[in-house]
Amino acid sequence: MRKTILTGDRPTGPLHLGHYVGSLKNRVELQHTHETFVLIADLQALTDHADHPDQVRRNILEVAFDYLAVGIDPNVSTIVVQSGVPELAELTMYYLNLVTLARLQRNPTVKDEMRQKGFDTDVPVGFFVYPVSQAADITAFKAHLVPVGEDQLPMIEQSVEIVRRFNRTYAPVLVEPTALVSTIARLPGTDGQSKMGKSLANAIFLSDSVDVVAQKVMGMYTDPKHVRADDPGTVAGNPVFSYLAAFDPDAASVEDLKRRYRVGGLGDVTVKRHLIEVLESFLTPIRSRREELRRAPEQIIRILREGTERGRAVAHETLRDVRHAMHLDCY
Ligand code: TRP
Repeated sequence: MRKTILTGDRPTGPLHLGHYVGSLKNRVELQHTHETFVLIADLQALTDHADHPDQVRRNILEVAFDYLAVGIDPNVSTIVVQSGVPELAELTMYYLNLVTLARLQRNPTVKDEMRQKGFDTDVPVGFFVYPVSQAADITAFKAHLVPVGEDQLPMIEQSVEIVRRFNRTYAPVLVEPTALVSTIARLPGTDGQSKMGKSLANAIFLSDSVDVVAQKVMGMYTDPKHVRADDPGTVAGNPVFSYLAAFDPDAASVEDLKRRYRVGGLGDVTVKRHLIEVLESFLTPIRSRREELRRAPEQIIRILREGTERGRAVAHETLRDVRHAMHLDCY
């Protein structure tokens, strides 16, 4: 039997190169050998965008364009809009009883995000418990594998704990998921910070224009001690080389550039020009597919409706088993 994969993204903006490297690439590769569900997590987006439902709704389409443009094939993958599957909210409610406040407070990703969003004292409860709703996403679709970036590992860990507790307490009906982290788990931001993030103003988006990509690359952080081209430079922690490693198909040439940069004699502008070329050969086909899709939004809407319906049928089945296991189907 084919294994099931589930992943998702919050539709709070367009997707970026970090999403591609961390998760989209894996999904595109695995969709032909696995039953694949891709969730547009609009309910999760509302956990920190409750006042902007219009923005969330708009971004559902942007994310869907990005999916199809990078090669997620709706004939083999099922794209599901989270709010179209109310079973997920029901399942979240049941799981909330299986998680303690202290355990949620220890989730390092939630902690980081709370700090970033300035939520230290005023965190919405929905945001705080989103790892629980994510466990509902993963288990409702009976996922075996969850391809995610490194920052999402704590969510999978919590999902596993919930599954074990549920199966032990009620009946063994839930599938235990495993995280699948890509070889390059995390792409740094253009500012050299450890993570590329939409809200950190250090992202290159899949939908950025040629000019914007060039401008972002030219403004990228490099080794601050590499002042003149002749100075020896540092490759470690230098995002220009991280991006080359992730996107330049010619690994030998990347190694050669690194060597020349280290000894001195290779200028930042030269490497950046090369990176722009590399990114453009990756982004050009994505951009043109995106433009094509934009002209046919009705087609995308149909894909989302059909995917959501198919996803809902699976979640419905899971909820039937869950309710039975919890003795909630007697009346
Ligand atoms: N939390 C994920 C993110 O911020 C999005 C997400 C929602 C997700 N539900 C999921 C990822 C289920 C994997 C599985 O990117």
